Amino acid sequence: MSKRVLITGVAGMIGSHLVDDLLNKDYYVVGIDNLSFGKIDNISVNFNNPRFKFYHVDVLDFDTLKILCKDIDIIVHLAAVKKISESDSSMKTLLVNGKGSEHVFEAAKMWGCKVIFASTSDVYGMSNELPHSEDSDLLLGPSMIKRWSYAVSKLYNEQMAFSYYKDYGLPIVVLRYFGAFSSRANFAWSGGHIPMFIDRVLKDDEVVVHGDGAQTRSMGYVTDLIDGTILALENDKAVGEIINLGNDEEMSVLESAHLISKVAKTGKKLKIKLVPFKEIFGEYKDIMRRKPNLAKAERILGYTPKVKMEDAIVRTVNERKKQLGITC
Ligand SMILES: NC(=O)c1ccc[n+]([C@@H]2O[C@H](COP(=O)([O-])OP(=O)(O)OC[C@H]3O[C@@H](n4cnc5c(N)ncnc54)[C@H](O)[C@@H]3O)[C@@H](O)[C@H]2O)c1
Repeated sequence: MSKRVLITGVAGMIGSHLVDDLLNKDYYVVGIDNLSFGKIDNISVNFNNPRFKFYHVDVLDFDTLKILCKDIDIIVHLAAVKKISESDSSMKTLLVNGKGSEHVFEAAKMWGCKVIFASTSDVYGMSNELPHSEDSDLLLGPSMIKRWSYAVSKLYNEQMAFSYYKDYGLPIVVLRYFGAFSSRANFAWSGGHIPMFIDRVLKDDEVVVHGDGAQTRSMGYVTDLIDGTILALENDKAVGEIINLGNDEEMSVLESAHLISKVAKTGKKLKIKLVPFKEIFGEYKDIMRRKPNLAKAERILGYTPKVKMEDAIVRTVNERKKQLGITC
């Protein structure tokens, strides 16, 4: 019989692509989202599918969550408040990622569900051990800097996942996602630099680059994260493990802005504004390199990323053009 999966944060970028693929593979999917960042348009195409049910629910609402988790085999916990800037409050990040995840693990324990938890490459912090491996030490910055609240909240969640695994035998998998994007990303700050740059280039706005833009990121297309997540969901060898997922190609932030401008073919000159780190982040030190070691993902899951970063940019630029009604 087809398994029943509950996805938290289903209307977000990763959740909405995951629901498409799981429905294609005959799973039953219950999706929840409070629509704080996600969009109903990302999932509405599946509303007529009898194997999909969507509930506008917050993960902080434990009473509803625990009822929805009854009869669920696997929970994929994606709902989170992601990166924040120094001018935002960190309270939502700490509350939703902390308390919300506690609710998910507790509900999973009640009904014996497997949990796939979405962690992040941000937990590697400023570590210089490259490429980043799952068993390496982590190097986070001081607590006065709000930006670290995201990494700290996800690390707390990872520790919690292992507590539920070791103390209660709950089958958990921790996936450390490295940056990914698609046209369903949030095109503002929380969606990451590539979607934000694409939107600005297409609208002929200034592209704001932090520092000199020499810092590199390993970014990939969302389908690679989805493939890895489904492999983890279907493979019992992943239980009790932390696994990096993403693309190990590196590209500097500045290079990605130029590539986006080339691919977008707007006929306009790229407008870059370099802003010193201190002006954007205060005392937060930006990460200069981020690159995953994917050996464990390959060994346990048979995972390798398939979409080159340049192809991922081409696809997203073309999809975003359609969304914005740009025909050339
Ligand atoms: N996209 C990436 O590059 C990336 C990288 C590392 C980790 N991750 C992790 O993967 C997960 C999904 O990321 P994404 O890119 O799809 O993010 P996203 O912001 O597009 O999706 C997150 C979804 O969670 C929902 N949400 C937020 N707070 C909620 C709450 N209290 N109750 C219910 N729903 C809530 C939002 O409305 C949104 O639809 C997150 O946990 C994120 O930390 C993503």
